[in-house]
Amino acid sequence: MYPERVVSGMRPTESLHLGHYFGGLQQWLKLQAETQCMFFVADWHALTTHFDDAQSIEEKTWEMLFDWLAAGIDPSRATLFIQSHIPEHAELHLLLSMATPLSWLQELPSFQAQAAKLPQGASYGLLGSTCLQAADVMIYRASSVAVLAAQVDEVEMMCEIARRFNHLYGKEKDFEEKSQQAVKKLGSKRAKLYMELRAEYQEQGLDEALAQAKAVLDDAQNLSMIDRERLFGYLEGSRKLILVEPRGQILSASPMAGLDGQPMTHSLQNCIGLREGPQSVERKVRSMNIDPQRIQEHAPGNPANCTVWPMQRALASAEASEQIRKGCISGSLSCVECKRALCSTIAQVQEPIHERAQTYLDDPSLVRAIVADGCDSARKLAQETMRDVRDAMGLNYSL
Ligand code: TRP
Ligand code: SF4
Repeated sequence: MYPERVVSGMRPTESLHLGHYFGGLQQWLKLQAETQCMFFVADWHALTTHFDDAQSIEEKTWEMLFDWLAAGIDPSRATLFIQSHIPEHAELHLLLSMATPLSWLQELPSFQAQAAKLPQGASYGLLGSTCLQAADVMIYRASSVAVLAAQVDEVEMMCEIARRFNHLYGKEKDFEEKSQQAVKKLGSKRAKLYMELRAEYQEQGLDEALAQAKAVLDDAQNLSMIDRERLFGYLEGSRKLILVEPRGQILSASPMAGLDGQPMTHSLQNCIGLREGPQSVERKVRSMNIDPQRIQEHAPGNPANCTVWPMQRALASAEASEQIRKGCISGSLSCVECKRALCSTIAQVQEPIHERAQTYLDDPSLVRAIVADGCDSARKLAQETMRDVRDAMGLNYSL
């Protein structure tokens, strides 16, 4: 009914490194070639954990948009925009929050993990960030949402939130009443079973209960076609689909290794920046730890004990990395050569990024124009959805 559309966002809390490129942006590049994409800077989400650093968000937002474009995100294929420029996200978040049980959000493992990391504890806003994320996606009636592997439970939650909303507000005017009359026609025993299964499906999302309830309807001989159809609809709770339940797509299964072999993150100071210059990259690579047992230059080494290897494997082609592995094990490749190869692989990855970046460095107004356009198209879609949402909830009254 609605077009295929992917929504994905990133929080502007840190500058982009190669881990972001391989763990997310590359998948965005693939997605933009296949489907209509909406990529946004989740600046309000940044405040859920960085509320005391609000002043720096603007600069990080523009830097991030610049880097997306340099990485190859193509504004003719994808809509680029800033969350806080589309206030409809906040309105939908507010309305969704009313019907979202507190316990759903409190029990989310990703919320608990994030809250545990904050010395000052979680705020009301952080608890609601999954609800805000649901709004981010549903305001565009996206068919799918692309997230990091750690956020799959949040996608499940977004679907629950949409299902509940459709259940509450997606009915025809007298649908409830007509459906209840039809339930009575099932006979008291069947009617009771039907209502129990319906509740199980709607409250817990049990597909098994849905299937059983449909079987009850199939068995009921004395039901008219229209009542049967109505009761099928009543099971799902929605005649009209106001909000779309998105499919989840995982951006990357495992994070890229950093300079110390651990996942690349700023907090571990093991990053190589997306556009970091060659001298600084070389300095960092030179200081990476090699297999400590490899004392002589051409003694056989063991890549499994070396921090250079995971990065080689992540960045170099399958063939090139296999050659490196063999060279290390046999001793024919020295660590100095191996590190030089890594530096040149990194430079190769960065080359097209630097080239694209130059266009935007030459004319910085381009970035602003692209984002202004993106915000305009996003806003149109968001306003349309909000009209339907207010209608469905009976909130469209005027003065
Ligand atoms: N939570 C995501 C992050 O931490 C950002 C985000 C916010 C997002 N809203 C979203 C991602 C909606 C996908 C869809 O980076
Ligand atoms: Fe590590 Fe490369 Fe040296 Fe092998 S050759 S120990 S992979 S740096």
